[in-house]
Amino acid sequence: MRTTVSVIKADIGSVAGHVTVPDQLLDYARNKCREAVETGLIKSFYVTHAGDDLELIFSHEKGVDNPEIHGFAWEVFKGATEEVSKKLKLYAAGQDLLKDAFSGNVKGMGPGVAEIEFIERRSDPIGVFMADKTEPGAWNIYLYRIFADPFNTAGLVIDPRMHDGFKFTVLDVVEGVEAVFEIPEELYDLLAIIGTQSRYVIKEVRRKSDDEIAAVASTTRLSLIAGRYVGKDDPVLIVRAQSGFPAMGEILEAFSKPYLVAGWMRGSHYGPLMPVSLKYSKVTRFDGPPRLIGLGFQVSNGLLVGPVDLFDDPAFDPVRDLASRITEYIRLHGPFMPHRLGPEEMEYTTLPQVLEKFRERWVKSD
Ligand code: F6R
Ligand code: MG
Ligand code: MG
Repeated sequence: MRTTVSVIKADIGSVAGHVTVPDQLLDYARNKCREAVETGLIKSFYVTHAGDDLELIFSHEKGVDNPEIHGFAWEVFKGATEEVSKKLKLYAAGQDLLKDAFSGNVKGMGPGVAEIEFIERRSDPIGVFMADKTEPGAWNIYLYRIFADPFNTAGLVIDPRMHDGFKFTVLDVVEGVEAVFEIPEELYDLLAIIGTQSRYVIKEVRRKSDDEIAAVASTTRLSLIAGRYVGKDDPVLIVRAQSGFPAMGEILEAFSKPYLVAGWMRGSHYGPLMPVSLKYSKVTRFDGPPRLIGLGFQVSNGLLVGPVDLFDDPAFDPVRDLASRITEYIRLHGPFMPHRLGPEEMEYTTLPQVLEKFRERWVKSD
């Protein structure tokens, strides 16, 4: 049977600034999802949050980009904004709902979307990863490690079903075009490109031998606003695991390094991506550090079984410690690059006003 897993997310209001999503919003969304299961629109769901982003995870049989599924997610976000966020005067109520009227697909309307559709195998484990205070290009280095780095993923070397490698679809968010790269043959070419993660973003990964979908990231909003920088879009990622895909442990191994990602305070700073349990899915220090949560499910006869809170484990304590030490160090730089992003990537800037204010002060230098 063909099953689709949709992860649709939006920041529609949060508590104590951009810190976390309150229970009232989560309860609203859960009630709506329960109704949608009763009417048969979706088969199962899980509602959670990554920092200040409300995350709706659905399983259903309607395929990707389905107007009913997108319309339902839009209604949940809209209704929750009106009935909860605005009434409670939550911070930045309705922030990610950029349009008024729904037009068939939430892409380009503000929410972030990652959807994956596949014919269920005998048993189908997936990982859903959700980050706050960063951007979709943040996944590049992790997807490279999961699907292309044999020092991370042993299966690339020793599992005959993975040994042919994978193909990566990369989106150029400036030109709004995409290209496919085959690994391992084009490994160095891929790295030459995806190392510029602010511009080139991995959109999906497929197994080369049979074109089977392996991972999907939320790049949709970016692709529609190509050519114009409109800020960070806290990203989500779905990865299939086991039996010819990387083992769940190989997927998680990639997150054992807290790489620097762009976002954090005012969407204008580099900081380490810290994997945390759901309990710590909130941002604190300097509105961060950027957080990552991971949930494991079995997709079984159209239903999501789980989740497992994947980073709720002392094995990830050293990663969090290192992320905290990196935080300590990089914060020393205050308003200086490379902690602060380059001027073209900053979400907040006063540079034009400052330059204008002192326009007359600049004189020819010898
Ligand atoms: C970054 C983010 C926060 C805010 C910061 C200032 O994505 O959400 O770091 O940018 O808290 O927020 P405002 O301008 O709303 O006071
Ligand atoms: Mg926010
Ligand atoms: Mg957010």
